[in-house]
Amino acid sequence: MALLEVKNLNKSFGSVVVADHVDLNIDTGECIGVIGPNGAGKSSLFALIAGSLTPDSGAIHLDGRDISQVPAHKRVHLGIGRAFQIPQPFPGLTVFENVAAAAAFGARLPARQGHAKARDVLDRTGLIEFADRPAGSLTLLNRKRLELAKALAVNARLLMLDEIGAGLTEREVDRLVQTILSLKQDHAIIWIEHIAHALKAVADRIAVLHFGRKLLDGAPDEVMSSATVKEIYMGLGVDEAH
Ligand SMILES: Nc1ncnc2c1ncn2[C@@H]1O[C@H](COP(=O)(O)OP(=O)(O)OP(=O)(O)O)[C@@H](O)[C@H]1O
Ligand SMILES: [Mg+2]
Repeated sequence: MALLEVKNLNKSFGSVVVADHVDLNIDTGECIGVIGPNGAGKSSLFALIAGSLTPDSGAIHLDGRDISQVPAHKRVHLGIGRAFQIPQPFPGLTVFENVAAAAAFGARLPARQGHAKARDVLDRTGLIEFADRPAGSLTLLNRKRLELAKALAVNARLLMLDEIGAGLTEREVDRLVQTILSLKQDHAIIWIEHIAHALKAVADRIAVLHFGRKLLDGAPDEVMSSATVKEIYMGLGVDEAH
């Protein structure tokens, strides 16, 4: 039994199919990369797992328990953390306050433990020196790190990272890769990303989504060099196509 089991998940918006019989399993210590063209249904898959979208059919199991009917805020309490594609901090609060709020409401920690958790998470994500800055003043790299920090602060066991490498410099991506690698041991991680070398450095498997269908799910090198991936990206590399 894997930590997360997505079973035969289906979801459409009218004629737009965002999940088409999707199955996905992931365990603690694993990282799955998710790729696919714009509009393939990648972020929608995260929303379905997080509970902010309701599937038309199918099931989501966490630790063997069907959580399909569990509301989104309770799924956070069960250990599902999500870093959003577009960073959504409280810009007027400090970095520390943003993460402490996630620890208080997401992990339901009392103030003292919440603050300790926030400090630990800021340390792990390289943000400790920015703890007292307003979140709205952060650079893009640090806003992406703050998304990661908030996902960690809720005591997530499953981390869903939505393009947190997008827009970063090569050097910043390398630093992010190191951070994510250090989190792999005690988390299950699903990382949607278009930066092929970053995914290859971290992911144990890569899944390919296209029109809501999972076309491939396998070893990173095999998937990235497959005819299927070349075809859906029309002969371009994953990096160039985005
Ligand atoms: N709430 C919604 N209502 C209607 N259509 C939606 C909704 N959310 C997403 N869609 C549509 O579903 C499709 C999949 O969107 P999604 O955001 O999951 O794609 P994605 O793979 O994350 O793309 P990107 O690489 O651009 O982030 C798109 O065509 C999008 O316009
Ligand atoms: Mg998306």
